[in-house]
Amino acid sequence: MKAKTLSLPLLMIFFFFHLSPSTSKRIFNNPSVFSSSASLSSRNAERLIKSFNLTPMHDVNLIPKGSPDAPRLFESQIDFPATIGAQNASGGPSVQEFGHYAGYYTLPRSKSAKMFYFFFESRNNSTDPVVIWLSGGPGCSSSVALFYENGPFTISEDLSLSRNEFGWDKVSNIIYVDQPVGTGFSYTSDISDLRHDETGVSNDLYDFLQAFFKEHPKFAKNDFYITGESYAGHYIPALASRIHSGNKKKEGILINLKGFAIGNGLTNPEIQYAAYGDYALDMKIISESDHESLKQDYVECQSFIKKCNLDGGLDCDSAYETCNNIFGQIMSKIVGKNYYDIRKKCVGSLCYDFSKMEKFLNQENVRKALGVGDIEFVSCSTTVYDEMRGDWMHNLEVKIPALVEDGINLLVYAGEYDLICNWLGNSRWVDQMSWSGQKNFGSAKTVPFLVDGKEAGLMKSYGSLTFLKVHDAGHMVPMDQPKASLQMLQNWMQGRLNTSTVPRVGL
Ligand SMILES: *[C@@H]1O[C@H](CO)[C@@H](O)[C@H](O)[C@H]1NC(C)=O
Ligand SMILES: *[C@@H]1O[C@H](CO)[C@@H](O)[C@H](O)[C@H]1NC(C)=O
Ligand SMILES: *[C@@H]1O[C@H](CO)[C@@H](O)[C@H](O)[C@H]1NC(C)=O
Ligand SMILES: *[C@@H]1O[C@H](CO)[C@@H](O)[C@H](O)[C@H]1NC(C)=O
Repeated sequence: MKAKTLSLPLLMIFFFFHLSPSTSKRIFNNPSVFSSSASLSSRNAERLIKSFNLTPMHDVNLIPKGSPDAPRLFESQIDFPATIGAQNASGGPSVQEFGHYAGYYTLPRSKSAKMFYFFFESRNNSTDPVVIWLSGGPGCSSSVALFYENGPFTISEDLSLSRNEFGWDKVSNIIYVDQPVGTGFSYTSDISDLRHDETGVSNDLYDFLQAFFKEHPKFAKNDFYITGESYAGHYIPALASRIHSGNKKKEGILINLKGFAIGNGLTNPEIQYAAYGDYALDMKIISESDHESLKQDYVECQSFIKKCNLDGGLDCDSAYETCNNIFGQIMSKIVGKNYYDIRKKCVGSLCYDFSKMEKFLNQENVRKALGVGDIEFVSCSTTVYDEMRGDWMHNLEVKIPALVEDGINLLVYAGEYDLICNWLGNSRWVDQMSWSGQKNFGSAKTVPFLVDGKEAGLMKSYGSLTFLKVHDAGHMVPMDQPKASLQMLQNWMQGRLNTSTVPRVGL
């Protein structure tokens, strides 16, 4: 028996909000409407999840009671191919030679929450960096990235697995966590364990990493990088900052944090919401007069964002509503387009089809292999999304200068055709960030990012900071440009992304 089963399907990956054209901006000027923001965001979530063809069986992973006797961290080796008969793609060493793990970690700052994770040792060498990947939502499982973006496997039509030639496990030991708790296979029996801000999120991830490195001491000295996408533009700076302060205070095991990379993220909402209209105009999906009217709407949105960042509370809900109305207005001009990739259309309600991941992970033999017992997979949780609503408009950029000043590297990258976390808004906050290298970054030359001798993007770099606009890609860069994204990660971790005008092949 599980959490209440809603007939409504849930939300979506990364982040979304999609207001129907009928939500006129007038109603948002009426403060009494703000109390309805929960149901509004749920409706957005439902519409969105359909566009990804996901139908989670529950709106959150809440179970009747916990299992207090379980050990803090319980992990087992998994062998997907043996369980479900993966194809032996591209030769090479057999999958059995690799360390593949799945586990649960009991969160110490919770009543009964357990965080699920996958861990894949590098296909190259266990001395490679350790990388954690965080998907967005908020409330979507990192398995979306694992199976559709940068994991070791892809899922075929018949639910068999094939080796992903460009999996990030070719150059790193990579961890995928389902978080905040309530999404994916992560669960709790106490609703008060659900998180609603970056303090809760980053503490849980920090505690998990401490336990992870205790369990895997041989990886603790490796370089460590945080990566992720979309709403993880919030999680990533929060976690980087949490680790950095833990390290400084000698709180636990030292985590060898070398860098953090944000892909098509939401990090500084005040700047990024202003960029929607400009990006849409540049891409010729709205008219000059639409653009003017969006500029007017932004005035109110901006003032709520400012208040939200000063006082929090209800102003954050108001900011969520007024600002997302801007996005809704753009969407009403481009009905049927895919706002994760404006080159594409959505067919019917379907923009992407990630349903095979759900089918695959909910198979009994797979769940058995993963050690998740009766827990069912919640691809995206509307409840988790709603609980995080007050976090949405917070500016996480403020945590970054202290990190880059201390030599921790930041890569901000964005696929150029994504509307929702578009490259323009991202490049603006990166440019406007105040730190000692700001001037030099501003005057740095834009250079091509070369893959196989061809320009795969444009980048700018100074000191610890790099910005990269990726060509021919939407919101999910590793899905659209798998080879370029793998080279990006590798070059960046080796500190030569910014120097590589000469390509290095042979990944
Ligand atoms: C995969 O293919 C390689 C090369 O053909 C072979 O040596 C290996 O045994 C195969 N592994 C499995 C699990 O079939
Ligand atoms: C992994 O790298 C280390 C350090 O470079 C090296 O000593 C070791 O032989 C490598 N292991 C493999 C399996 O290549
Ligand atoms: C693979 O591991 C070796 C050390 O054994 C390292 O020198 C090399 O850079 C790694 N290759 C990649 C692609 O990361
Ligand atoms: C390139 O980036 C590395 C970190 O990834 C940094 O240490 C180095 O200073 C940068 N080089 C230049 C020329 O900006």
